[in-house]
Amino acid sequence: MSTYKASACAKIILCGEHAVVYGRPAIAVPIPDLRAYASFTPTTASGLRVHLDDMGERWTWNPHHGHPIAVVIRHTLNVLRAFPPSGDIHVRSQIPIGGGLGSSAAVATAVVRVIARALGRALSPEAIAAIVYEGETIWHGTPSGIDNTVIAHERPIWFIRERPPQVLQPLRAFTLVIGDTGIRASTRDVVAEVRRRWAQKRTHYETLFDRIGRTVYLAREALQQGDLLALGRALTENQRLLHALGVSSPELERLTRAAMQAGALGAKLAGAGRGGNMIALVWPDVARHVANALRDAGAVRTFVTTIPGKEDEG
Ligand code: PMV
Repeated sequence: MSTYKASACAKIILCGEHAVVYGRPAIAVPIPDLRAYASFTPTTASGLRVHLDDMGERWTWNPHHGHPIAVVIRHTLNVLRAFPPSGDIHVRSQIPIGGGLGSSAAVATAVVRVIARALGRALSPEAIAAIVYEGETIWHGTPSGIDNTVIAHERPIWFIRERPPQVLQPLRAFTLVIGDTGIRASTRDVVAEVRRRWAQKRTHYETLFDRIGRTVYLAREALQQGDLLALGRALTENQRLLHALGVSSPELERLTRAAMQAGALGAKLAGAGRGGNMIALVWPDVARHVANALRDAGAVRTFVTTIPGKEDEG
C-alpha cells in the first residue's frame, strides 16, 4: 500500500511582537526550508497509530485522547466528516522546540495535511489554520493565532488580533539569517512581565506600542514596494523599541550588533525575547558572512532562509 506524505514550514515573527498583544499589527513570515514532516502508511489492521518519532512517543488515536495532536486529528475528522483511516502516522521535525519557530503548529499542520491526503480530500489554508488552532490552545493557553495562520498559508501574514489575517505579497524576495541565542525563555513569562509593567505605567507603554506599530506599517510598505533598505531600517527601529520595552537581553543585543557590523540591513530579536532567536535582513551574498559573524558572537545555531516575492512567481 502506498505511503502518503505531507509537510509544513516553520515561522518567525518579522516585526510587531508584544505590541500585537495590545492590538497593534504584527507580520510573521514562513521559513520554507525548515519543516515538520508527517507520513501515513495504511494497514489492514484497524486503528490509527501515531508515532512522534523525535519524542520517542507512540499511541493509538481515540476521540477522547487529550494529546494536542490527537485533538487536532479529531477536529480534522470532524471537519471532513470522515472515520479515522487505519494505519500509522509518523511525525518528524527539523524545527527546534521552544524557540518561537512555530514547531507545534508546524507538526500539527503536517498531520492535518497527511490525513486529508490519505482520505483523498482537500482542505483550504483557512480550514487547516482553524483546526490547528485547537491544538495550539492546549500547548499555549490563549495563542494569538498568528503561528497556525502563517504556517497554513506558507505566506507572509499581516496580523491584528481578533481580525481576519491578511496574506501579504512582498514584491521582492528577501533573505533572513536567523541566529539562536541558545537561551530558552518562556513566552508566557515574558508576556506576563510586560503586562505587569504596562499596568504600572500605561501611557509610557502604550506610546511604545504605538511606535512599534508604526515600524510594522513601515515594514509592510517596504515589503510591498520591494524596498529592502527601508525594511531593514524598520526592523532595526523595532529592535530599539523592544529593547526599551525591556524584552531584549545582552545576548540578543550582542547578536543584533554583530549582524549589523557584518553588513546586515536590519536586525532584531524575533518572538518573545529574553532569549530565543534573532533575525538579520541581508543581501543574499552576505548571508554566509553574517551567519559566521553571529556564530562568532555566540549564536549556537544559524539558519539562512529566503522568502519568495511576487517577482519570483512571474
Ligand atoms: O515566541 P513566539 O514566536 O511564539 O512569539 C511570541 C509573540 C508575542 O507577541 C510576544 C506573544 C503573542 O502571543 O503574540
